Amino acid sequence: LQGHLLTAIGASPSLDALEACRVDALGKQGRVTQLLKTLGAMTPEQRQEQGPAIHGLREAVTAAIASRKAALEQAALDQRLAAERVDLTLPADTAPTGTIHPVSQVMDELAEIFADLGFAVATGPEIETDWHNFTALNIPETHPARAMHDTFYLQQGLDAKAAGEADERATFSLLRTHTSPVQIRTMLNGNPPIRIIAPGRTYRSDSDATHTPMFHQVEGLVIDKGITLGHLKWTLETFLKAFFERDDIVLRLRPSYFPFTEPSAEVDVGYTLQKGKRVIGGSGDDANGGWMEVLGSGMVHPKVIAACGLDPAEWQGFAFGCGIDRLAMLKYGMDDLRAFFDGDIRWLKHYGFSA
Ligand code: PHE
Repeated sequence: LQGHLLTAIGASPSLDALEACRVDALGKQGRVTQLLKTLGAMTPEQRQEQGPAIHGLREAVTAAIASRKAALEQAALDQRLAAERVDLTLPADTAPTGTIHPVSQVMDELAEIFADLGFAVATGPEIETDWHNFTALNIPETHPARAMHDTFYLQQGLDAKAAGEADERATFSLLRTHTSPVQIRTMLNGNPPIRIIAPGRTYRSDSDATHTPMFHQVEGLVIDKGITLGHLKWTLETFLKAFFERDDIVLRLRPSYFPFTEPSAEVDVGYTLQKGKRVIGGSGDDANGGWMEVLGSGMVHPKVIAACGLDPAEWQGFAFGCGIDRLAMLKYGMDDLRAFFDGDIRWLKHYGFSA
């Protein structure tokens, strides 16, 4: 009987089959249980003779069931571990990621280049007061830049002004038309020497292939003692060489007019025609070259310095303003400004930068 039971237990293919074996041997009606019951009816001599064998059988069967159970459970666990194994070496699904917009990229490049020259980054509000955007910059009421067709005004601000609201410096009535009001805020809020750039959004009511109602400028401002046009030209030359990553950048300063600088200069850079495309670099006077206007600049007007509470006899400086979108187009070769702000994912993937 023992051999028969142990063989059946050892061959049980599953926990269920093993349980059936257990019931068959050790259950209430089990064969080993029946044998154990016979002990009660025996004489002491018989019990002494057969007892050890019957108890030994029960122990052997119990031990065999326990060991088979452990083996079956281990096998089940091994199977589960194999089936549920995660292969960490498999390439993961890549989550879709966006790209850095060329405007953001160029802003970062500007901040880095000017940081090397000791310039901090300053910011100002996009909703501005008439006073910061125009008046303090020596732009009189009659200046064409104030005409309705250029400037986006805010009805609330205009109403507040019409109602004679007291503080003209606190009445926000327009979307800034340039980053130059950040010059004013910087001079009012801090003491010279000042060296800042101010990149950001600007707004003008204008739209075609090279103009969008919202665009980006970067302002530069230096206020210190003994600042000259020479400092301005060196700074711009150093900046443009670093930005376009070439040494053959040639600048041409053309006399110009801005109400907030005196003298004023428009700055052209030389380009060379390569396969019909204008590439920045080289003298614009070369046979296959030309000049391209890239920024406005000048020495900060004494009236502007005075409007900010500084003494123009003590402090001088230069300022410049430059279209960031245009810089991006020139460096990275886009030809339609409007695409910058369409949000077309194909364009963004093509011209965007990875983070
Ligand atoms: N604010 C001027 C513009 O938008 C640019 C400029 C800035 C010119 C600073 C001179 C000095 O055209």
